[in-house]
Amino acid sequence: MSLQVEVLEQSFDAIKPHADGFVASFYDNLFTANPEARPLFDTTDMEAQKKKLLSSLVLVVESLRKPDVLNGALRGLGARHVKYGALPEHYPLVGGALLTTFEQYLQEKWTPEVKQAWVDA
Ligand code: HEM
Repeated sequence: MSLQVEVLEQSFDAIKPHADGFVASFYDNLFTANPEARPLFDTTDMEAQKKKLLSSLVLVVESLRKPDVLNGALRGLGARHVKYGALPEHYPLVGGALLTTFEQYLQEKWTPEVKQAWVDA
């Protein structure tokens, strides 16, 4: 598996004009599909959280061509998530909510190729 960098960049660019709605829908999708994940965010300022999620997604997509930056960013994020109580089995749920949200926002641009690129990423 190698990252389809161009596909990821282009499809993410199409999200950017709708970024605020995208991150709001992401948490709606996450908590609707997985109500048990809600308590992890009980004391979280969700407006701030949406902004942080968006900046981390932007950072990741902008670092796809810079493996050292990407590696450092993801390791830092992963280490902090241990403290937040995120468990390995939560990641597929978050990944699933992300894919659902991409599908909702990209609509006809959510082609099998784009889907596969995000599943791999
Ligand atoms: C690709 C996966 C994920 C990304 C990009 C992501 C992104 C973020 C970001 C940027 C923050 C803000 C603080 C920081 O930078 O450390 C954060 C906090 C948090 N995340 Fe995630 N996250 C991911 C997966 C998960 C998973 C699987 C869970 C568990 C359900 C989770 C639960 C939390 C919690 C509880 C916080 C703390 C909120 C607070 O400060 O109160 N995240 N996440």
